[in-house]
Amino acid sequence: MKIEKVDFGTTKEGTPVDLYVLTNSHGVVAKITNYGGIVTSLILPDKNGKMEDVVLGFDSLSGYLQDDVPYFGAIIGRYGNRIAGGKFSLDGQEYTLAQNNGPNTLHGGLKGFDKRVWQAEEMRSEDGVGVKMHYLSPDGEEGYPGNLSVDVVYTLTDNNELIIEYSATTDKPTVVNLTNHSYFNFTGNTKRDILDHKVMIKADKFVPVDEDLIPTGQLQDVKGTPMDFTNAARVGQSINADHEQIKLGRGYDHTWVLGEPGQMKLAATVYEPATGRYMETHTTEPGVQFYTGNFLNGQMVGKGGVTYDYRYGLCLETQHLPDSPNQPQFPSVALRPGETYSAKTVYKFAVK
Ligand code: BGC
Repeated sequence: MKIEKVDFGTTKEGTPVDLYVLTNSHGVVAKITNYGGIVTSLILPDKNGKMEDVVLGFDSLSGYLQDDVPYFGAIIGRYGNRIAGGKFSLDGQEYTLAQNNGPNTLHGGLKGFDKRVWQAEEMRSEDGVGVKMHYLSPDGEEGYPGNLSVDVVYTLTDNNELIIEYSATTDKPTVVNLTNHSYFNFTGNTKRDILDHKVMIKADKFVPVDEDLIPTGQLQDVKGTPMDFTNAARVGQSINADHEQIKLGRGYDHTWVLGEPGQMKLAATVYEPATGRYMETHTTEPGVQFYTGNFLNGQMVGKGGVTYDYRYGLCLETQHLPDSPNQPQFPSVALRPGETYSAKTVYKFAVK
C-alpha cells in the first residue's frame, strides 16, 4: 500500500492544494484533495479486472472551483442537507444562517466545508493508508455558533474499503452533521445514467419532504411505496412513479431512517449488473440520503470530457435527518463544549 502526495494547483486566493493518491495492494486507487476534502477519483476493478473510475468529478482543481458544482465528492458541513428558513434555536438562543437554497440553508451555506482548504496529513496504519484532514471552522462562520474543530480521516484498506471517520469539538453549543457527497456511477468512467444500478436500503421508514425538500416532520413507511428498497431494486424501476414524494423529490432525494445513531450497521448496497461492481455502505449514522442526481443537467463536463447528464450519479450520504435542529423529535445534532461528535462510514467494494 502506498501514499503519494502531488500538487493539485492553487485556489483563486492563491492557496496551494494537494492531491493524495492512496493505492492498496490490489491496485485500488482513491485520490483525495485537501480542497473540500474531495474524493476526486476512486478506481476499482470490474468483474473482469478492468480498472475504472466510479465517482464523478474533475481532472483538475479548476473544475472544482467553478460556480455551482453540486458538491462532487466533498465533505459537507457544518450541516449536511437543509435547515428550514436558515434558522434554528439552541439553548434559548436563535441563530440565522447563510441561506443558499431558496429560503433554506443547504450543505453548510454559501461557503461550506466543501469549499475550504483543509490541513492534511498522511496516515499509515495496520488497516491501510490514509489522509487526515483538519479544519477549524470559526465562531459565526455561515452563521453557526462556536469554533468547531473538525477532523476527517479517510482510510483505504486492503479489503477494498474506503473508511471515513468524522470527529468534532466546539467551544459553544452548536449543531453538526457531517457527510461525504460522492456521486457513484459503477458503469465505470460514467458511461450512462445510474438507472440500471440495483439498490438495497435497509430501512422501513423514510423522511417525507415538502416542495422545498424540507422534512414534514413525520416518518413514513416505505412499504407499498416507490421508496421500498428493502429488497434490492433497479433504481429506474419506480423513479418516475406517479407518487407525491417522488414528484417532490424529482426522483429520489430523501433520507431513509436507519435507526439509533452510534451503532455500526449495514445501510445500503449497490450493484451494477453490466460490470459486476458492488458496494456496501455501513455507518454509525441514523440516516442515509439517497439522491439520484436529479439536478444534474448536462451543464458540467467532468473527468475525461464526460458530460454529467440527468441522473448520471447516485449518492448515499450517511447523515442525521435533514432539518434536525428544528425537529426536536429527530435524533439530536447538538454538540456542546466538552462533548465530541463522532461518526464513521465504511464504503466496501467488491465484484459479483
Ligand atoms: C440534496 C439535493 C441537492 C444535492 C446538491 C443532495 O444531498 O439532497 O437536494 O440538490 O445534494 O447537489
